[in-house]
Amino acid sequence: MLFRSMKLWHALCGLLHIAQGLYLDVATSGGNASSPMLYGVMYEDVYHSGDGGMYSELIQNRAFQGTTVHLDSNRHVVPPFENLDYWHSRGSDSLALDNDAPLLSDALAWHMRVDVDSNASGDTGFWNEGYWGMNITTATRYAASFYLRGDYDGEILGAFWSNTTKSMLASTVFTVSQTESDGWMLYQQSFTIDNSAPDGKNTFHLTFDGAKVAGKCLRFQMISVFQQSFENSNNGLRMDLAEGVQAIGGRFLRMPGGNNMEGQSSPYRWKWNETIGPIIDRRLFPGTWGYINTNGLGLLEMMQWCLDMQLETILGVWGGLYLDSEVIAEEDLQPYIDDVLNELEFLMGPSTSKYGALRASFGYPDPFKIKYVEVGNEDYLNNGIPSYVGYRYTMFHDAIKNVYPDINVISSIWMGYFPTLPPPGTVQDLHDYLSVADMVGKFGGYDHADRNYPVLVGEYAAIYDDQHQNPNQLNNPTLQSAMAEAVYFLGLERNADLIIGICHGALIKNLLHEPGNVAMMKHSATEIVFSYSYYAARMFANNYGSETVPITSDSNFGPLYWAGTKDASPSGKYYLKIVNFDGASSTPVTVTIADKSSPAKLITLSGPDKYSTNTLGSVTSVWTETTIYSKNGTYNFTLSGEYASAVLIV
Ligand SMILES: *[C@@H]1O[C@H](CO)[C@@H](O)[C@H](O)[C@H]1NC(C)=O
Ligand SMILES: *[C@@H]1O[C@H](CO)[C@@H](O)[C@H](O)[C@H]1NC(C)=O
Ligand SMILES: *[C@@H]1O[C@H](CO)[C@@H](O)[C@H](O)[C@H]1NC(C)=O
Ligand SMILES: *[C@@H]1O[C@H](CO)[C@@H](O)[C@H](O)[C@H]1NC(C)=O
Ligand SMILES: *[C@@H]1O[C@H](CO)[C@@H](O)[C@H](O)[C@H]1NC(C)=O
Ligand SMILES: *[C@@H]1O[C@H](CO)[C@@H](O)[C@H](O)[C@H]1NC(C)=O
Ligand SMILES: *[C@@H]1O[C@H](CO)[C@@H](O)[C@H](O)[C@H]1NC(C)=O
Repeated sequence: MLFRSMKLWHALCGLLHIAQGLYLDVATSGGNASSPMLYGVMYEDVYHSGDGGMYSELIQNRAFQGTTVHLDSNRHVVPPFENLDYWHSRGSDSLALDNDAPLLSDALAWHMRVDVDSNASGDTGFWNEGYWGMNITTATRYAASFYLRGDYDGEILGAFWSNTTKSMLASTVFTVSQTESDGWMLYQQSFTIDNSAPDGKNTFHLTFDGAKVAGKCLRFQMISVFQQSFENSNNGLRMDLAEGVQAIGGRFLRMPGGNNMEGQSSPYRWKWNETIGPIIDRRLFPGTWGYINTNGLGLLEMMQWCLDMQLETILGVWGGLYLDSEVIAEEDLQPYIDDVLNELEFLMGPSTSKYGALRASFGYPDPFKIKYVEVGNEDYLNNGIPSYVGYRYTMFHDAIKNVYPDINVISSIWMGYFPTLPPPGTVQDLHDYLSVADMVGKFGGYDHADRNYPVLVGEYAAIYDDQHQNPNQLNNPTLQSAMAEAVYFLGLERNADLIIGICHGALIKNLLHEPGNVAMMKHSATEIVFSYSYYAARMFANNYGSETVPITSDSNFGPLYWAGTKDASPSGKYYLKIVNFDGASSTPVTVTIADKSSPAKLITLSGPDKYSTNTLGSVTSVWTETTIYSKNGTYNFTLSGEYASAVLIV
């Protein structure tokens, strides 16, 4: 009925040169159950998304574990790592690395020795630059702590200073009374401040009475200042970044990598057992992305992140391949498999088991539930394929399934590479870093895929647009690239019986460290830029039902694309999504949903130009929310912008 009149209307429009409208008729049944976790997020420490990002520590190089990772021409990591980067003397004291025993812990080999001038008097000490500044605000609490060895009887002042006003912003006093024979003693203070800093250019200083230690030395270790974290978790997440991540509305966390889990060269892979327990027991990890990881945001912090945001965990485990192409031989692989089983026992075992007891001792008596484990990451690269399909995947898979039959094991390689297909149900993780054209081209890409092998799109991003071609990546997501990603999402929603999840390949990057390619969010010490990709994902992830709905239209896909889902309950909401990718600047849209007539919420995302981006101080994306009333069972609205996305929720 409806279509007949539409055709007539189309004919009229043609005659009168009015832009043709889009008519969508949404059925109330006949769809497929969709993945309950279609949209998610991926975390690995990349470009300071962890240390100096998501991790709420303000002090950089807090345990003198070092900062930069150097590689030789064979792509091998070159130790040593320890240094005093980001630490400075306030005056004549000299700072030096020292490994003089006793050490604070086995994990921390080097500490900072402060040799005080023999004629020192008044305040003396040292300071830290932070991760290119610090967020000093009245809105949050701060927790400062350090370990001290040496003879000192007096006060140590911990204080934030502003580069801009050149004055002290706030301070807290530690009362110290110890001698060398006391060994390492811990001092900690929680404090708030009276005035927020004018900007992020702030530093943290520890000062003491020079006259009392003139000519002597004091030794410091693990100097930490935490800004109050998300959900007040101990050793937790930076609040503003975490709130930004939570607002995306994802349902899973893929972690801990990514290339960062793989490691550059032996023996430097991401080791779960070195990321747990008290922070003084955490060894450094020379990360893949050029800098030392503190392992402060470790396995349990990521699990707490999952708990706080109610995210399913997709756990990546090291699969026997380093990025320098070294592969663990079949006869040597068992210890690495045992390591994964130990990790799974640590996470899932009862608190009576060996590793479950260790977890309980860290404050997590209840086992976690891990349903997805991915073996390796991108094993189709770095000469990984022969060994992965030859023995590595199978050995990990069989060992995991043997103990945890309910775990879904994920292959980091496309099924087509396997000479003998793994058992049906095996999930394949496909990474899509594409041009906008290829991203849009994949809209129908999963329509005819083999239903036996579910797909995780564990990383995606539109990285080339119609101006930037390989190898010149986009610096920032644009309206155009985000809309290409949105079209890609629609292709997944239409195939939600096959796709278990999708997450962007670059959740967070530090603005200073990665101006050159895309991320959902980029941050400095005090600010966050939410990109067009961020808003596209946020719009889609927050508005997503538990089953797909068939939609009929008399238009073909392109330049307009659409898909819809609804909540299963009879009165459940519908989420109808439409993306315009290079179509008319104004599109009349008419939607009918048979059993709905209540007011609908319409959310749209667009921007001034297809190349528009969001950058620090210049947010161009336009997000609107309006109410659409139905008339005679139809919802009408105008989608504005040659590139735009919309979701109608009713
Ligand atoms: C349901 O899934 C089948 C493939 O398994 C697909 O052909 C069909 O279009 C899907 N229907 C909807 C409404 O998503
Ligand atoms: C300490 O005394 C020496 C000379 O003995 C002088 O050169 C130096 O500047 C003095 N340092 C301070 C911090 O006063
Ligand atoms: C603050 O000033 C010091 C030099 O006194 C500099 O080393 C540091 O990088 C500055 N911090 C910021 C965030 O500009
Ligand atoms: C500092 O941190 C607080 C709390 O996370 C956040 O609300 C604020 O936006 C941040 N930046 C500045 C400049 O205060
Ligand atoms: C962590 O486990 C690995 C084995 O997978 C082992 O080589 C390493 O020494 C362990 N680290 C510590 C600190 O025990
Ligand atoms: C919706 O648009 C169609 C076509 O332009 C029109 O026939 C119909 O009356 C409109 N309905 C409402 C509720 O405005
Ligand atoms: C209202 O909807 C009914 C059924 O869809 C249709 O028959 C009727 O023509 C519509 N009325 C108007 C004024 O559009």
